[in-house]
Amino acid sequence: MLPENPIFVALDTPDLVQAAAWAEAVRPCVGGVKLGLEFFNSNGPDGVRRIVDLGLPVFLDLKFHDIPNTVAGAVRAVAGLGAAIVNVHASGGSAMLRAAAEAAADHGADRPLVIAVTVLTSLDDQDLAGVGQMGPAAAQVERLARLTQSCGLDGVVCSPAEIATLRAACGDDFRLIVPGIRPAWASTGDQKRIMTPREARDLGATILVIGRPITGADDPAAAAVRIMEELEIT
Ligand code: C5P
Repeated sequence: MLPENPIFVALDTPDLVQAAAWAEAVRPCVGGVKLGLEFFNSNGPDGVRRIVDLGLPVFLDLKFHDIPNTVAGAVRAVAGLGAAIVNVHASGGSAMLRAAAEAAADHGADRPLVIAVTVLTSLDDQDLAGVGQMGPAAAQVERLARLTQSCGLDGVVCSPAEIATLRAACGDDFRLIVPGIRPAWASTGDQKRIMTPREARDLGATILVIGRPITGADDPAAAAVRIMEELEIT
């Protein structure tokens, strides 16, 4: 079950003490936290357990992409750490996607949600052609989202620009996890195609992944509260 508060804070740091301090500070005002490759490769499974033990749902963003048997084993391993959401690359294909969903299902009611990455937002139409994927990127995103859904996964990671199309294509129950979120008062940093939390939520985003507008603020908890207020979450 996902929390009502859609804000997941990206704890993008290799430093466990820093990640735990951010998580503690924002705990009352967010729905969860996201840990990525930088954190995992610095702190390993024990580091993930430390953050899980703080009591917030954890989205473990490791983007698995391998043969089905190996991905199934990886999903089983991270499900055992207590992650609430794990992810894989949709371009791993239908057998890999099904294997990931089945491995998570072994954990029964406490299973993590399994989400797929469609097309990395760092890739444009030319990049896709270079790796032999059929473009344009928007069509490939929708194709992979439909494949993800047909294989029994719970949703996809998508950019703000893709929310409306994917919500229409995949229906109300499909989870859309959306980074590239910037409150009007925050600096854009290196994000290019951005949307405010309110706009993204109103278009149908399930989870808003927000990093630097919160972790880079002088008072991360106050920044998270300000976003909650904009979303009219009490
Ligand atoms: O600090 P910021 O809010 O830009 O952080 C966004 C988080 O979402 C980072 O962890 C980033 O790696 C991740 N992300 C993203 N764009 C994607 C996929 C993931 O910004 N397309």
